[in-house]
Formats: sequence, C-alpha cells, structure tokens
Amino acid sequence: MTTEAFNIPTSVKWQGDSIQLLNQQKLPHMTEYLTLTSIDEVFEAIKTLKVRGAPAIGITAAFGLALAASKYETNSLLRFKQLLEKDKNYLSYARPTAVNLFWALERMVKSIENATSVNEAKTALIHEAIQIQVEDEEICKKIGENALPLFKDGDNIMTICNAGSIATARYGTALAPIYLGKERGIDLKVFACETRPVLQGARLTTWELMKAGVDVTLITDNMAAHTMKMKKISACIVGADRIAANGDTANKIGTFSLAILAKEFNIPFFVAAPLSTFDLSIKSGQEIPIEERDLEEVIHINGQAIAPEDVKVYNPSFDVTPNEYITGIITEKGMITSNYFEEIKRLFKS
Ligand code: MRU
Repeated sequence: MTTEAFNIPTSVKWQGDSIQLLNQQKLPHMTEYLTLTSIDEVFEAIKTLKVRGAPAIGITAAFGLALAASKYETNSLLRFKQLLEKDKNYLSYARPTAVNLFWALERMVKSIENATSVNEAKTALIHEAIQIQVEDEEICKKIGENALPLFKDGDNIMTICNAGSIATARYGTALAPIYLGKERGIDLKVFACETRPVLQGARLTTWELMKAGVDVTLITDNMAAHTMKMKKISACIVGADRIAANGDTANKIGTFSLAILAKEFNIPFFVAAPLSTFDLSIKSGQEIPIEERDLEEVIHINGQAIAPEDVKVYNPSFDVTPNEYITGIITEKGMITSNYFEEIKRLFKS
C-alpha cells in the first residue's frame, strides 16, 4: 500500500514528551488531536473511547507507560521497576476485553528486564512503544495480503464496528484487504453496520472508507439479514478484541448476530486479527471478560435521550462468536479455517 494514496489520519503519534491522539469521539465531524501529557489522561482517553480498537488501545497504553516512566524521579532501578509495575497495573484497568492492552503493557515491562540504569530503561521503553506501533502497521499489511485472495472484484462485503486504520497503527485488520484491493484495482464494496450503541460503524468505518475512496453503504444493525439477502453479500469480515485458544472470538456487540445470519445465508464469515489479539491462557470464549459500559450509551444518542431516563438497561460492549460460526481467522501468519485449537497452537509455534 502506498502511503501517499492513504490519507487517513494516524490515530496515535509519539511527540517525544507527549502523545498526540486522534479524538475518535469527535469523528466524523471534527478531526481533532488531543495532547496527552500524563498517565491519567491516557487512562481517561482509553476508557472514554477517544482511542479505541484493540491494537490502537495497546499502542496508546504502551506510549502512556513510556510517558509516565520518563517522569520518574529516581536513580534506583529497583524503585523504577516498582513504579512501572504500579502504572502498568493502573493502565490495565482502563478496559477489560481487548487483550492487546495487557499484551502491550506486559511487553513494555519485559523490555527493560536487562536495563542497567534508569536512563537506559527510560530510553528502552520509548523504543519498545515505537516498535509496537511500527510492527502493528507491518502486521496489518500482512493481514491485508493474506485476506485479499478471499475476495474478487465487485464483491459486497459486510462488516461491523471499526476494525480499520484508526483502530490500529495503520490499514486496520478487517479493512486492510479492502484498502489493498483498492490500490490493486480490485474494487470491494462495503456494507457497514452502524454498530449501536456508540456507532463506530456509522461514525468511523464510513468516514475512513470514504476518505480512501472505497464504495461504502451504511445500514442500521437490524438491516443486516435483509441486506445479506437483497445485496448478495459475498462475505463478512470483522476484527477481534480477544481470541481464545479454541478460536472463540470476542468482538464488538452484534458480531455474533452477524455470524449467525451469515451461517443461515451460507455466507463466509471471517475474523481478521494479529497474533497479539490471541489469548492462549483462555481455553474458550466463556472465559473472556466482557465489558459492560455505562447505560448512558444506550439511553442517549448525541446527548439526546431516546428512552425513558429511568428505563432498565443492559449494555455489554462485546459478544463472543463461537468458533463453529467462523469460516476462517486471518492473521499475519496466514489463515486458519478449522481445528482451531491445534491450528492456533501451530501458528504460535511457527
Ligand atoms: O469498543 P471498541 O470500539 O474498542 O471495539 C472495537 C472492536 O470491537 C474492534 O472490532 C476490534 O477492537 C478490532 S480493531 C482492529
């Protein structure tokens, strides 16, 4: 993918002593960058979805930890490591489901294991966060390469939420093959589910695909079945927040419904995710912690109440799609299509 043709703003930028963060809460109406200078601001930005999407959350947390550590006023490496552990634990409470958050924070702490001084450790942390971001961009490109052969020119593809460029370092996971196809003259048309309650599909996926000149059509979530039937959807492709050792996949609420519909209509249902989204410590999707968010998200749209203020609300932010609904999981190391438990183990060994 040529970077010149790809004019979607980067979600996270390291500035040396601060983080510039694309405020995804303001999209699509305003392209605003926030300047984060403290770990509390980083925590708040992740919690309130100013940055969201599993890989982008991990990248932001990594820079947040490097930023916090750069301000520790101690010459003792032991004390430095204690402070780092405390801040790592703090950031890990920002959101519970996307495993990339914990993966990135663990990787950051590991990166200073061999440091011999506080200054060396501070520099190592910054390098590691930059490395996580650089690698994620390369990984997303590879996911795009591995996914593109699944589609042909003119295909109608359905997706949910935003697993695009701004949810990652660049290019996205589920949207990477769409961008790659665009560049190679393979036109894939996207049907984006709006993704209630906070509308990542309507606000973010349509915005970034339109910026890249991709043919995108917005539908409300309850139009998915009818659209599959009427618009000859060739495939669904979605991202992931955590994939268990058996391939069960947690992703944005509504993903499981799409997978059930896809099965009914005989439409292949693909999950696109980097290996950093797998959690091999978890045997099945039943063990994945599902975030429940504030009831405000369901009762209000853009600050406007759409239901009685005192109505009872259930607001799970993610659901788990059991592996039997998934036609293939596409990673940077290729696609796996069955025997997920064994195949995932093999992927990690290779
Ligand atoms: O609540 P969000 O917006 O962080 O949820 C994001 C998703 O569910 C994405 O599909 C997932 O993180 C993959 S992003 C490449």
